[in-house]
Amino acid sequence: MTLSLTRLKRLAAEYGTPLFVVDHAELRRNLAEFKKHLPQVQPYYAVKANSDPAIVRTLYKAGASFDVASMPEFDIVHENIKRLPPKQRQDYIWDKIIYANPIKAPETLMELDPYKPLVTYDNAEEIRKIARYAPHAGLCLRIRVPNTGAMVELSSKFGAAPGEAVDLILAADRAGLTVEGLSFHVGSQTTNFDNYLQALQLSANIYKEAKLRGYAKMNLLDIGGGFPAPYDATVRPFRELAALLTRELKRLFPKEVQILAEPGRFLVATAGTSVASVIGKAERDGKRSYYINDGVYHTYSGVIFDHLHYPVKAFKSGPAQPSAVFGPTCDALDTIGLSEPLPDLKLSDLVYSENIGAYSHASSTWFNGFPPARVVHVNQG
Ligand SMILES: Cc1ncc(COP(=O)(O)O)c(C=O)c1O
Repeated sequence: MTLSLTRLKRLAAEYGTPLFVVDHAELRRNLAEFKKHLPQVQPYYAVKANSDPAIVRTLYKAGASFDVASMPEFDIVHENIKRLPPKQRQDYIWDKIIYANPIKAPETLMELDPYKPLVTYDNAEEIRKIARYAPHAGLCLRIRVPNTGAMVELSSKFGAAPGEAVDLILAADRAGLTVEGLSFHVGSQTTNFDNYLQALQLSANIYKEAKLRGYAKMNLLDIGGGFPAPYDATVRPFRELAALLTRELKRLFPKEVQILAEPGRFLVATAGTSVASVIGKAERDGKRSYYINDGVYHTYSGVIFDHLHYPVKAFKSGPAQPSAVFGPTCDALDTIGLSEPLPDLKLSDLVYSENIGAYSHASSTWFNGFPPARVVHVNQG
C-alpha cells in the first residue's frame, strides 16, 4: 500500500467518490526498480496500460521511453516533445518511441510516416502496406512465442511463426525496408519465467539464421512486456526474473544488440488505488451483498478484460464476513467479488482496492450513464 488510509479518506472527502488515485512517487519507484535490476534494458512504457497524460508526463520526466499502439497514444507522448528543436524531436522519436501494434491502418501509416518511427510487423501484407504508406519507418519483426500460464494471452492474435521469421525479414528487405530487430510478448502478468527463456532462445536462433541467409542489419531486440506486478505474495519477485534475463541476454546476444522492453503493468499497477462508497446493501441468497459506486464497467474493468480479482477492503475494522460486492449498473455481470471478507458496512462507508493502476481506468466506460471515476494525482513532484 503506497498511500495511507488517512490520506485516501481525506482525498475521498475532498473530491468525492468513486475516485482513482495515482501515486506518481510509486511510478518513479517502479521505473527506478526496473532500471536498477535491468540496467542494460531500455524500458518503453506501454501507454495502453494507463494512458493518462499525467502518468506519461511523469515517466517522460523520469527518463522512460514509450511503446504506443495507436495515433492517440502517439500524440499523448508527442505532446511532451513537441517544443523540442526538430532534430532533437526526431531523434527522440527514433530512439525512444516504438509503435508496437503489428497491424496498422493505412491512414495511421500515412500519419506516422513523416515521423520516421520504429514500427512492428508480423506478416507479408503489413510489409506491402508499410512499403506503400510509411516507407520511412524502421521495422521490428514481432515473433510468436509461448504465452503459457500468462494471465493475459496475446500469441493467438500476434506474432510471426519463428519458422517464417527470416522469410519475412528478407521480404521486408526486398521491399526496400530495413528490419532493425525482433520483438516478442510473452503474455501479460507472466509468472512462468520459462516463457522468456524460450522467447530469447527463439530470437537468438532467428538472429543466427538471418545472418546465415545474408541479412546482418539487425541490432535490436525488444523483449516486450509481461513483467509481473506484485499483486500478491505468490508472484515471484521482479529481481528474480531480471537476474534470469540478464544471464540469458548475455549468453545469447552480443553486447552491440540494443535491448528494449515494453513494461506496462509493472510500472503502473501498484501506483493506482480506487476508493468507492457503499450505495446499497441487501441480503442475497443468505449472503450479505454490498453495492458500491464503482464496478466492472468502470475502474474494475480489469475483472473482465484482465481476468484479475481486486480484493475490496474496508477502511473500518470489525469481524469480517464473506460478502458479495457489486457495481452500480443494472447488469449482473457488474460483480466485483462474491466473497470479499468485509466487516458490517453502512451506507456511505468507504471501501478501496490497491494495485489497480493497470488496465483498469484505461478501459473504463460510460455504461448505464455512470461516468468513469474521478482521477486524482498525488506526489507529482
Ligand atoms: C505490444 C505490447 N507491448 C507491451 C504490452 C504491455 O504488457 P504488460 O502490461 O504485460 O507489461 C502489451 C500489452 O498488451 C502489448 O500488447
